[in-house]
Amino acid sequence: MEKAIEVKGLRKSFKDIEVLKGVDFEVKRGEIFALLGSNGAGKTTAVNILSTLLKSDGGTASICGFDVSRQSGKVRENISLTGQFAAVDEILTGRENILLIAKLRSVPKPDQVADDLLKRFGLTDAANKRAGAYSGGMKRRLDIAMSLVGTPSVIFLDEPTTGLDPQGRLEVWKTVKELAGSGVTILLTTQYLDEAEQLADKIAILNEGKIIANGTLEELKKLFPPAKKEYIEKQPTLEEIFLAIIGKGGQSK
Ligand SMILES: Nc1ncnc2c1ncn2[C@@H]1O[C@H](COP(=O)(O)OP(=O)(O)O)[C@@H](O)[C@H]1O
Ligand SMILES: [Mg+2]
Repeated sequence: MEKAIEVKGLRKSFKDIEVLKGVDFEVKRGEIFALLGSNGAGKTTAVNILSTLLKSDGGTASICGFDVSRQSGKVRENISLTGQFAAVDEILTGRENILLIAKLRSVPKPDQVADDLLKRFGLTDAANKRAGAYSGGMKRRLDIAMSLVGTPSVIFLDEPTTGLDPQGRLEVWKTVKELAGSGVTILLTTQYLDEAEQLADKIAILNEGKIIANGTLEELKKLFPPAKKEYIEKQPTLEEIFLAIIGKGGQSK
């Protein structure tokens, strides 16, 4: 089967607020797909419906050919979800967090699985430290590592870098890029254009309940107006002032 995710006419309201007003998109196997939208656009709502946590009001959605409402058990066997807020247990060590999930999912050889994932995510040295002592980037990496226990074929990452410092962001980007190389399908949500640009093969923009643009970065760039050049007065830097004073500046005689 070619399509990992297929969404048609998806609708969802909370009371009288219509959040999704007929959302359509498809994600091919092995693709990284970014759902880009501002805060409150409905990204988490869409992810929750696709990962069977929430029922839609209308439309259809399927994962690996399984309908999210009628075959939710099959869908869950094929996916993993890293939610917007880290699911890491801060009292346990990194290793214990992964072992916990491995045991819950009854995967064979949990110790081996934990060692491999810790290594893959650069957490071997920190494996026996409490996750509460990890940096934001390390926690997120552990969170993503935990979501890979049991080798899901579709991974949902809901705002994987929101709240991280620039270093943590770069670490998570690297992790996602590596994941993509392993052939899994990834749907990530983000508020940041540069994140979508860095990570995604395809980008869909969710705005006011609808997908208003969908395509590769190149395709989307053609839709935007060309960059405007503006000339602004540049204030000298302290270094330039210093050089001018001591007579080594560019325009000094
Ligand atoms: N359980 C809920 N009950 C009521 N309103 C909700 C609920 N979940 C989300 N919303 C509302 O739906 C809109 C979209 O939310 P969400 O999907 O979380 O957006 P995003 O993830 O893009 O920031 C927001 O206006 C939010 O307040
Ligand atoms: Mg959200």
